[in-house]
Amino acid sequence: MNSFLSWLEGGPVTEAIRGTPYLYPVLGSLHILGIALLVGPTAAFDLRLLGLGKRNLPVTTVAGFLLPLSRLGLVIAVCTGVLMFLPGASVVVERGSAPWKLGLLLIAGANVLVFHRRTYRTVSDWDLGESPPAPARAAAVVSVTSWAGVTVAGSLLAYT
Ligand code: HEM
Repeated sequence: MNSFLSWLEGGPVTEAIRGTPYLYPVLGSLHILGIALLVGPTAAFDLRLLGLGKRNLPVTTVAGFLLPLSRLGLVIAVCTGVLMFLPGASVVVERGSAPWKLGLLLIAGANVLVFHRRTYRTVSDWDLGESPPAPARAAAVVSVTSWAGVTVAGSLLAYT
């Protein structure tokens, strides 16, 4: 494990990040923009699933508009997060917040998969309803709490 982390810290991409002035803060800014694009639209979609906010809009319309933005945000957050991880890999993995961030990311990702592979398949039955079924509302609660948790754990990553 240690030799793998040392290998990551000494690789050519890591050297390029270290050797390019301002690249790390630029990556940090893009990370935050990715998080905004991911968490904002996801939370708005979750509110619709909970039967709150824009109840007159079909769920499929809300999903079609917001979920592509969330996917783009996730790609940006993951790519920039991995690049920011490389220069201090052995320090970051020792932080107490690291397993929280990873665990909550896995929960959030698993929730997305279960929602799209199971619950969303029946959306035509509840597309126009004001109150989607319990599994959809449960997915929304897990989504809001796990993405908020990833954000909190991500902020703590720099400190503890
Ligand atoms: C594989 C995915 C990800 C990796 C590897 C990753 C890694 C990192 C790293 C290395 C940092 C910098 C910590 C430091 O300054 O020492 C960071 C910051 C942060 N991350 Fe991530 N991250 C990922 C995805 C996410 C996601 C999806 C979110 C939110 C939903 C998030 C939220 C944050 C926040 C809020 C910060 C603090 C930003 C700041 O204060 O400037 N991260 N992340």
